[in-house]
Amino acid sequence: MVWDYDLETRHTGIDQDHQEVVAFLAAFLKVLDSRHDDRVPGALAMLYDRIAKHFAYEERLMVDRALPATAAHTGAHRSFLDDIRTHAERVATEGSTEAFRQWAHGQLVSWFRAHIKAHDLALAQALNEPGPTRG
Ligand SMILES: [Fe+2]
Ligand SMILES: [Fe+2]
Repeated sequence: MVWDYDLETRHTGIDQDHQEVVAFLAAFLKVLDSRHDDRVPGALAMLYDRIAKHFAYEERLMVDRALPATAAHTGAHRSFLDDIRTHAERVATEGSTEAFRQWAHGQLVSWFRAHIKAHDLALAQALNEPGPTRG
């Protein structure tokens, strides 16, 4: 997976964080494709931690600006982390099965791209609008 212009939200902090997550995703897929199966659980754990850190960052931005209607966005974060955890548990017991490889190259990557378009773009737009003025 590579970073492309399509994924830009125009919020500097979010874009920088997304680029880092994409780098972690690419590094994880490289380990998976290298067929060093013993390194896959560790690489997935690192990716999980980086994604969790990114979600916490976005959620902090929402709270700081008291943005309304963020439940769907944070709910999407939770269910994605749950999905990664489920696959991490499976890979720890079953190893890198073909189904796991398909999930990693398919859903894992496409979810992240789709999430940016479905939720992060709107968040970035709201954050880039001037905040409420006082007086
Ligand atoms: Fe998000
Ligand atoms: Fe994001």
